[in-house]
Amino acid sequence: MRDAYVIGAGMTKFGELWSNSIRDMFVEAALKAIDDAGVDHIDSMYVGAMSSGLFVQQEHLGALMADYLGVVPMPATHVESACASGGVSFRQAFLEVASGASDIVLAGGVEKMTDGADVTDALATAADQEYEVYHGITFPGLYAIMARAHMQEFGTTREQLAAVAVKNHRNGSKNPNAQFRSEVTLEQVIRSTMVADPLRLLDCSPVSDGAAAVIVASEAVAKKLGKQRIRVAASAQASDTLALHSRKSLTTLNAVVAAAQKAYKMAGKKPSDIQIAEVHDCFTIAEVIVSEDLGFFEKGKGGEAAANGLTSLETGKIRVNTSGGLKSKGHPVGATGIAQIIELYEQLNGKAGARQVENARIGLAENMGGTGASCVIHILEAL
Ligand code: COA
Repeated sequence: MRDAYVIGAGMTKFGELWSNSIRDMFVEAALKAIDDAGVDHIDSMYVGAMSSGLFVQQEHLGALMADYLGVVPMPATHVESACASGGVSFRQAFLEVASGASDIVLAGGVEKMTDGADVTDALATAADQEYEVYHGITFPGLYAIMARAHMQEFGTTREQLAAVAVKNHRNGSKNPNAQFRSEVTLEQVIRSTMVADPLRLLDCSPVSDGAAAVIVASEAVAKKLGKQRIRVAASAQASDTLALHSRKSLTTLNAVVAAAQKAYKMAGKKPSDIQIAEVHDCFTIAEVIVSEDLGFFEKGKGGEAAANGLTSLETGKIRVNTSGGLKSKGHPVGATGIAQIIELYEQLNGKAGARQVENARIGLAENMGGTGASCVIHILEAL
């Protein structure tokens, strides 16, 4: 496989973007990425989106976005893998460049969730309809089951979960593209409205609109443009059972463990080499479990690590979700995986503003769908 580089990035602000249609958002992000890369054409593109058919009654996003971006007849493909759609879109672009099939590929993601659709129902299509959703469970409910199991097995506390939200809101307050730029206190998280016991409003990622795009290019193109800096060191993907009840453990995400093993091997890195990580904190418990399954902390110690500042921007041994994560930056599901890559791209380029981690050289993005039935992990390295 050839080396591939991220040479440009662009995104919309995340939030309730009522005046922007799904195509407006995608085109805005894509044009910003193309402009940032300084390329005069792209060879192909991928559009990650989880459920545009249910959210805005629009499918066939590949061709639609190619049309509005003004690039037809160039190939354009819609990629779906629930909340991991963006990460899988990036992986497809990486594989296309690494294989030698194309030199410049746009990887994008988009979702328009606030246009009046029944969002909870639409999101629940990523869980097992016959064996889970039929019985009334929703995503907050599924993650609440995982949280209770983690609390029982490892003694994880309500305060430790809240510490994840406090940290991510503090980071998001420094991110101009974040949906919520307000800091919250431990007390506010613990007293916020109950959603699915023990998860409260401030433990949850919000319902969001937004789009994000990056340009992946071959070494020759990156060199020609003077952008041979951010190399994709690893791309790995894994799957697990859709239904929670089919799993041996409710507190370990096997797809995260499997994808992480592959990614570390491909990059020739170990967990302790990772300086910054964007992880899929759709609920606070998800960040706790994922930070363990990625090998950053011993099993059962993820909550304690967050509460002790080991993942914070200020005092972290590894900085987790410097962007504000899904919790504060927002979670337009199809765009999330690409937005994670953009945070790494900005950090590794030294352009993350008030969120900048000094001397950031190696970053990891972990994006997952459902309760971790799909997981895609990328490691980026600044040369
Ligand atoms: N974090 C912080 N504040 C939030 C929030 C969140 N996740 N969700 C909503 N709010 C705020 C809103 O801005 C609003 O504030 P305002 O009154 O000052 O304007 C207030 O809370 C009420 O918002 P509303 O939209 O009525 O909330 P809701 O009760 O309809 O939805 C959740 C709240 C938690 C149920 C919803 O955000 C949700 O379903 N989140 C999970 C999404 C999900 O499952 N994603 C996929 C993961 S796998």
